[in-house]
Amino acid sequence: MAESIQGLKRSARCAELSEKDIDKDVTVMGWVQKSRNKGGLVFTDMRDRSGILQVIFEEDICGSGVFEKAGTLHSEYCIAVTGRVRSRGKDVNKELATGAIEIEAKDLRILSESAPLPFPIETETKTREELRLKYRYLDLRRAPLQKNLMLRSKLAMSVRNFLSEEGFLEIETPTFIKSTPEGARDYLVPSRVHPGEFYALPQSPQLLKQLLMCSGFDRYFQLARCYRDEDLRADRQPEFTQIDMELSFVDVDDVLEVNERLIKRMFKEVIGVDVELPIRRMTWQTAMDKYGSDKPDLRFDLPIEDVSEAVKDCGFSVFRDTVANGGTVRGIRVPGQGHMPRKKIDALTEVAKYYGGKGLAYLCVNCAEDGGHKSSFAKFMGAEELDALIAAMGAEKGDLLVFAADKLSLVRNVLGNVRLALAKELNLIQKGDWKFVWVTEFPLLEWSEEENRFMAMHHPFTAPMDEDWQYIDSDPGRVRAKAYDIVLNGTELGGGSVRIHQADIQEKMLEVLGFTPERAQDQFGFLLEAFKYGVPPHAGLAYGMDRVAMWMAGADSIREVMAFPKLKDASDAMMGAPDVVDEQQLKDLSIRVDESALKAAEGDMDATASAE
Ligand code: AMO
Ligand code: AMP
Repeated sequence: MAESIQGLKRSARCAELSEKDIDKDVTVMGWVQKSRNKGGLVFTDMRDRSGILQVIFEEDICGSGVFEKAGTLHSEYCIAVTGRVRSRGKDVNKELATGAIEIEAKDLRILSESAPLPFPIETETKTREELRLKYRYLDLRRAPLQKNLMLRSKLAMSVRNFLSEEGFLEIETPTFIKSTPEGARDYLVPSRVHPGEFYALPQSPQLLKQLLMCSGFDRYFQLARCYRDEDLRADRQPEFTQIDMELSFVDVDDVLEVNERLIKRMFKEVIGVDVELPIRRMTWQTAMDKYGSDKPDLRFDLPIEDVSEAVKDCGFSVFRDTVANGGTVRGIRVPGQGHMPRKKIDALTEVAKYYGGKGLAYLCVNCAEDGGHKSSFAKFMGAEELDALIAAMGAEKGDLLVFAADKLSLVRNVLGNVRLALAKELNLIQKGDWKFVWVTEFPLLEWSEEENRFMAMHHPFTAPMDEDWQYIDSDPGRVRAKAYDIVLNGTELGGGSVRIHQADIQEKMLEVLGFTPERAQDQFGFLLEAFKYGVPPHAGLAYGMDRVAMWMAGADSIREVMAFPKLKDASDAMMGAPDVVDEQQLKDLSIRVDESALKAAEGDMDATASAE
């Protein structure tokens, strides 16, 4: 039976009470974590978002009616308890923040009962994620998720406070906008009033924030909802939140400077971590060459070395031929790991192959019993050639060297990932280490094999570096951009750029990207038009707020810091979205579903179901 709250007022949250409240009369409200009857006493652990508090029902104190009612309590009943705070004396429960006190109950109201639960509400859970997401409102009662969402709220507040102190205005931009390809696929919303036409949900407020700069708001921010129809991963969701900003009359350094202070402030305020400023900067070129990644994990070293010069004439044909064919040979020195078991080296080779490498050549310097090298390729090389290679790697006796030979982009990717695998294998990453780095000077353009043309690496409005623009016709791939990413422990937290504000450069850029003037006009006409009326130089940046929260919370998945995330297939297990809609709704929108596509999709589902 559910009782009314009438006449009752909560005086504190459960875990807000402490020894200083002893002898006070209080009213607390929350859920029954567990309740047990032990020889004439009912012990009830009550929980709300602040934590857990022990309540004791003693018949002598609360009377037989209340005592009987207390005997009916089950997990997740929602209750109100009135009573007196008392000391637990010697029976302190060190596991609980409120472990030194308890409530001696005088009255109890059962505000509502709970049906048997699909899974227990406990800190550590073995429940599979799909079930947890189906009952997300229950899952969210668990302490770690409560903590994560509180952290997220604190993060949002910290960002808002800092940016508004710095003169940024919070301005909302619409989420029904025009479809402009910006990398991922758009989510579309059909229009009823304009049959056959669609809005797109923004992948980011990019163009709108640039227009706000044209309007003179000069410092804008927004905690912006973004939508991208792309394959999901542990740190990607179809809808997510950006801490988005744009500034006028600035260049790269100004954006990085204010953002370094933002980073320092939010990490201190939210999790008490001191970020040392200035944050290290590294060009994209260095990141790719030394760490094989544009988001280098700098919590450990293991840099990549180029040995192409040392092996270009050597006896090992894999190395020699790769260099002769315009490729590169690069390696990683793993100090003191020359005795790594063969099985582990083979596992690294599998990593190399997984990322497209043909193999992973290795050399354990002077690790054989006779003092020679143990190696997969030393037999093909002369002693002098080996010495030259070892010298080029700066290696010593007892080191393990691993090499990849191939075209540059592949070698970077292979060794970048072998490097990460090594760090994991050798436990090189220390918990609680925060290694931030700005990766700067990204290439402006990226060659797409698929499309057989250059694509914008960041987006088509990113400005080139002034000194490189001269190469836009002769060697477009050489032009670097005023673009930057903020990387933390090997993940990209955010990115941005200085934007093009000169019409001639923008036109040329669109031409290089293969836009006809008509298509450019059709897609970005409003922006190009706006830029005719006095556009300020401007630049900006956006963080994935969920990713920032994920790192702060130490969570493995972005879903752990979102209230109602989607499953891997972008569906919502709780609401059952997406879902079919009424015939009439479709009619109103002038939409007809392609039945053959529907059947094919059903077929796919059946196949997945039977495969499981
Ligand atoms: P970008 O596309 O790099 O830049 O996005 C900025 C940041 O948003 C986060 N992010 C995501 N987080 C969760 N799920 C996703 N699917 C997802 N996709 C991106 C990442 C990323 O670093 N308009 C530009 C910013 C600018 O130039 O100012 C932009 O959107 O953390
Ligand atoms: P093989 O002569 O094919 O047995 O190769 C000798 C060694 O070189 C093995 O350890 C292979 O894993 C390695 N290897 C083969 N191709 C490459 C490559 N492209 N880059 C690096 N190592 C390679």
